[in-house]
Amino acid sequence: MPLDATPIPIELRGLRIALLVSGGIAAYKVVDLASALSQAGCQVRVAMTAAAMRFVGPPTFQGVTGKPVATGIWPADGTPEPHVFLGDWAQLILVAPATANVIGRIADGRSDDIVTATLLAARCPVVIAPAMNDAMWAKPALQENLTKLRHRGITVVEPETGHLASGHEGAGRLAGASAILNAMVHGIRARYDLAGRRVVVTAGGTREPIDPVRFISNYSSGKMGFALAAAAADRGAKVTLITTANHPEHNGIDVQRVDTAEEMLAELRSQLRGSDLLLMAAAVGDFRPAKASDRKIRREETPSLTLELEPIPDVVASLAAEPAFATVFRVGFAAEDSKLDAKAMEKVKRKGLQAIVANDISRRDIGFGSEYNAGVLLFADGARHELEKATKRELADKILDLVLPRLKR
Ligand code: C5P
Repeated sequence: MPLDATPIPIELRGLRIALLVSGGIAAYKVVDLASALSQAGCQVRVAMTAAAMRFVGPPTFQGVTGKPVATGIWPADGTPEPHVFLGDWAQLILVAPATANVIGRIADGRSDDIVTATLLAARCPVVIAPAMNDAMWAKPALQENLTKLRHRGITVVEPETGHLASGHEGAGRLAGASAILNAMVHGIRARYDLAGRRVVVTAGGTREPIDPVRFISNYSSGKMGFALAAAAADRGAKVTLITTANHPEHNGIDVQRVDTAEEMLAELRSQLRGSDLLLMAAAVGDFRPAKASDRKIRREETPSLTLELEPIPDVVASLAAEPAFATVFRVGFAAEDSKLDAKAMEKVKRKGLQAIVANDISRRDIGFGSEYNAGVLLFADGARHELEKATKRELADKILDLVLPRLKR
């Protein structure tokens, strides 16, 4: 089947894929694959060896991916170290076609061109699809190199047997599209179990204005929400973080800044359509000034001030009531100082949640502002999981481990 006619598996959609092309005649076939992956919503960046460029020009790959092609390890297009950039950026690397020469150089740990240097700088799963003449494929030197790569955790897609460009019949043809795509799914499955998922996370305490310079808020730092967003993004999900706080940069998280509960609700309505999971870690306020002043309230002119507060409508309960979001798995977060389970379960029912994470805020060593958290994860069907004290990031992964099997496919 031609490479561009094969359906792209859902697990690969939305992933950042580095396609490293070495110099074999099969390089032309990989153009179709780059095109099909890009059209399916993957972000594809291509890097080519000098020999690959003798077969296919970089503008061809640039044309089908919409991204500049890396052709060397020296600064280019404003990227100081293209191999380090690509290695950090990629969630999955595919080397296709992989020639005997590049396989040997990868096995030796070389880094003297963009393909080998990117592989050394990579932090993600790697799949290689060899293609070469049948005699080269059969040589012990080549097979020993492949064994080394397999031992290092690299997935090797066996080439096909058939007509070769050299005129011979034998093993060495670049594997077909579905074999390459299956190997890519295999390569990412363990590490990217949220690939193809859309996750929306809220974080931070909402800020309700009193006047243009003052607001009512709470002590939430947004760290738990950020940890959840980072964990989901690192596991391959497409993540939107709707937040009132400032967070470090993180690959794969789309940050939407808001202040008030009303802005958070509006942003959720626009982001939540088509999402699989909502992690509502924001500390949405319960009351806001009934009327905010448009001008700064001046102390000289205001001997005493009484603020009238009105209740803030429940954001997550409003969303639960909207049919457009009925299929989104909704996880709430509750900070409680007593009767954790009973109060949290009451919120599950009242807010139309599928699950809730309850923390004990009477404990000083966890919670607001801390790097640590602990609590209990309760599902609407009564399942209960203790979340032992751990860093917020560890807890985020634990929560995702427990929620993932319950998401609809
Ligand atoms: O009622 P409580 O504030 O303890 O509930 C916490 C959960 O409900 C959190 O997930 C929070 O984001 C959400 N919430 C909300 N709208 C509110 C208050 C809380 O969505 N007005």
